Amino acid sequence: MEIKSYLNKQKGLVEDSFNSYIPAAEGVFQDHIKALRYSLFAGGKRIRPILCLAAASAVGGETATEEDLLPIACALECIHTYSLIHDDLPAMDNDELRRGKPTNHMLYGEAGAILAGDGLLTWAFDLLSDTTYGKLDPEKRLRIIHVVARATGSQGMVGGQALDIAHENTTFPFATLQTIHRSKTGALITASVLAGGIGAGANAQQLDSLKSYGDQIGLAFQIVDDLLNATATTEQLGKAAGSDVELGKATYPAYFGIEETRARAQATVEKAKTALAEFDNKAEPLRLLADYIYTRSH
Ligand code: IPE
Ligand code: IPE
Ligand code: MG
Ligand code: MG
Repeated sequence: MEIKSYLNKQKGLVEDSFNSYIPAAEGVFQDHIKALRYSLFAGGKRIRPILCLAAASAVGGETATEEDLLPIACALECIHTYSLIHDDLPAMDNDELRRGKPTNHMLYGEAGAILAGDGLLTWAFDLLSDTTYGKLDPEKRLRIIHVVARATGSQGMVGGQALDIAHENTTFPFATLQTIHRSKTGALITASVLAGGIGAGANAQQLDSLKSYGDQIGLAFQIVDDLLNATATTEQLGKAAGSDVELGKATYPAYFGIEETRARAQATVEKAKTALAEFDNKAEPLRLLADYIYTRSH
């Protein structure tokens, strides 16, 4: 399997289903919906929904098909997009470019962007809990909702964002850097993998392995994000390069330099693949995604 065509195919699947789940920008709330649709359709890589679907395929149960899991996958992308809209706000990272386009607040103002993020976050839980979408059994749906809520709240993504901001321009132990990365970025990535696994009926041992895989690629994802911020161009990234140094962010390159950061990212991805040892070739997409997380250029 070739990763590029796989990613394109899965991205198409996710994008088509967004159109059936996300309301159109019409009616009394049209300005607000237009703002959230702007960021949602700005051209993200859709890695979290793709990971969710790939984890379900790896388990290969017959309890839930890709179609059953698409609303869950789209909900994960809604949460991710909300986190980016808020991350870019002047009070956070103060960025003007995202996915190659002006950030949400540049077009819709700060209040509009805060509300677009709030709308996406809430929409995600609407999608996750709507039993008219997909035929997931209620017990699995509830477990998924809990995993996603726990991963993205104050003990996960939001907590990580708070730590990220609090540690700008400070010195701190390596363990803190890892905690920031695992929570602000890793937690949602692990939850995406687990959501697919739970949906597909993974047993406890499979879920342990998927969690370990998710934790490693989640950490690697942010290490590579730091690496690209330090080494790629703004044009290549579609977001401001070099901004981590400017903001005094807690990053791997700031801690270890470029070469050691690269080696650590690669080693982390290798550990992720090791965690999949018990899975057969149905986990090929997950293995390829792990490599992609290291080799990606934006
Ligand atoms: C960027 O995530 C922010 C991080 C959590 C590191 P992605 O690189 O997945 O961003 P998009 O969705 O493709 O724009
Ligand atoms: C983003 O981290 C993490 C979340 C949005 C939860 P960064 O601030 O490092 O990511 P970029 O570089 O802006 O995409
Ligand atoms: Mg940030
Ligand atoms: Mg940022």
